[in-house]
Amino acid sequence: MCGIFGYVGKNNDAVDIVLRGLECLEYRGYDSAGVAFETPDGIFLKKRTGRVSVLADAFGSESLVSNCAIAHTRWATHGVPSDANAHPHQCCKGKIFVVHNGIIENYLYIKEVLEREGHVFVSQTDTEVLAHLIERHMTRHTRLEDAVVSALHYVKGTFALAVVSSYEVGKIVAARRSSPLIIGLSDKGHFLASDTSAITSHTKKAVYLDDDEIAVLTANSFSFFNFYANGEKKKRYKPIDTIDWDTEQAKKEGFEHYMLKEIHCQPESVADSMRGRLVEERGGAKLGGLEVLGDDKIKDIKRIVITGCGTAYYAGMVGKYMLEDYAGIPVEVDLASEFRYRNPVLDKDTALLVVSQSGETADSLAALRYAKGKGNLTLGLVNAVGSSIARETDAGVFNHIGPEIGVASTKAFTSEIVILALFSLFFGRSRGFLKEKKARELIKHLYLLPPQIKKILETEDQIKNLARKYGKYDDFLFLGRGYNYPIALEGALKLKEVSYIHAEGYSAGEMKHGPLALVDKNFPTMAIVGSPTSNTYEKVLSNLEEIKARRGPIVAIAEKGDKKISGIADDVFYIPQTTEALSPVLSVVPLQLFAYYSGVFRGVDVDKPRNLAKSVTVE
Ligand code: M6R
Repeated sequence: MCGIFGYVGKNNDAVDIVLRGLECLEYRGYDSAGVAFETPDGIFLKKRTGRVSVLADAFGSESLVSNCAIAHTRWATHGVPSDANAHPHQCCKGKIFVVHNGIIENYLYIKEVLEREGHVFVSQTDTEVLAHLIERHMTRHTRLEDAVVSALHYVKGTFALAVVSSYEVGKIVAARRSSPLIIGLSDKGHFLASDTSAITSHTKKAVYLDDDEIAVLTANSFSFFNFYANGEKKKRYKPIDTIDWDTEQAKKEGFEHYMLKEIHCQPESVADSMRGRLVEERGGAKLGGLEVLGDDKIKDIKRIVITGCGTAYYAGMVGKYMLEDYAGIPVEVDLASEFRYRNPVLDKDTALLVVSQSGETADSLAALRYAKGKGNLTLGLVNAVGSSIARETDAGVFNHIGPEIGVASTKAFTSEIVILALFSLFFGRSRGFLKEKKARELIKHLYLLPPQIKKILETEDQIKNLARKYGKYDDFLFLGRGYNYPIALEGALKLKEVSYIHAEGYSAGEMKHGPLALVDKNFPTMAIVGSPTSNTYEKVLSNLEEIKARRGPIVAIAEKGDKKISGIADDVFYIPQTTEALSPVLSVVPLQLFAYYSGVFRGVDVDKPRNLAKSVTVE
């Protein structure tokens, strides 16, 4: 995820300070870095693809007199990792410099307008429009903050940004909407960062910007304003907080582990996955990464094979149900490690869709190369921009959720399911299969997911207690059906990975074909029962009765309002109601928490479970 650091002070050491600030942000993941720094001769720019150390080396041993600088680590979203796409970005005249986290949803429209006015763009990023837009508004204002406010009036999307300008030296203007930005205050100068951990070595005094607020910083002053859609701003008095976290805790934003932080950020990551991609008026999805293929190629796709490994594969299984249901396309899901060693039948109208968080998983990459070698169309659903799978697929969609650090995949999984729902809308509507009414219904429920996940997270203590109660067992059976069958598999995988408890995931319908033999009072079942309106609900309840009859303890994940389940299960955790296709996004969250707390109570290092790697680049 991108990182911002800025500093304005008085000791001529701004470049050193911002480079050290970027090092503190490295853990967030990035692919390139850059600095815009003010000197007595003007503002200069240095950007490099790769590590912060490469950028630092580019400065060599020259001692730079600079009191004001903004810097950035970029995690590519729009445009490949490259020096040109690295931030800061500048306007045509080289007088305004911007760093930005977030996504400018309407950047293509703004870019078109600005190009017509003669602005020349040199990168593929959404961010560059901000530099040109502020330049355009600077002609009507004398103060940088007023030009920034006027420019933001035209911007749709999310941002945390910092701007410097040679029109007004010694000043940084920062603004926020939906992406974090923290201001650090000290006697030697003022700081800004996208993450508290980057400023704690300089100061413990912080001001947290809220949405639609800007900060104006100089070496000796700081002020805050609200900005409004009509281009006005109003002074705002903000409380100064004292940071009482150490640097390591700050990176985790107060959570004990990255896994827990990533579970908790899912309301935002799910929202980020759909941001700017839903078209309510037409009941469809706008996926620019697929549209590049052109209508004919999209219509030619008659069958999709989804492939991936581990959690990504389970997301693909949910995708199969959705694509068949909403787009009417035959879909197969194949483990990447199996696919490439068979002789899969790939006719010319089949597209291979590779799902991968890292974009580097060796088996998934090999499957992709196999299909490419056969001349098939390849699509990607990848989180890491610039990764091998992202580069080698013909077209695809990015998650836009920032890097996942915990080895156990959590936020990538929910994001993958949401994006597969967007794939279904996209293909369903473009093939004329999906009726507008059904599409709109799905969109309505997609929008409800972030607050619904938040609700589940608010009742986290219930899951914690369940983990305490059931963590003593050495085996667990996970059951689900239909859309929730893959969730049973994913829940079992999570529990295995981070608690080392043996767990098996099964389709509830398959239970009596074997696994039932295992059930006794020492073999609990976690059942994802699904909605009482689903056509398999009664059948799942019958399966659970069979388990109960054999004295197997039962924990159920059930929909709010389910009247029957409490009469069967020993413990029930209720999740909000949603449409069946999206229920996996909600039902997996308590299972992630259950695995997490079971691992913590057993003393496992949940962020780095034994024998596992985040990115499996060997076969
Ligand atoms: O980076 P990918 O999504 O391609 O990774 C695939 C699997 O290695 C990954 O999902 C793995 O199963 C996780 N540790 C699950 O939590």
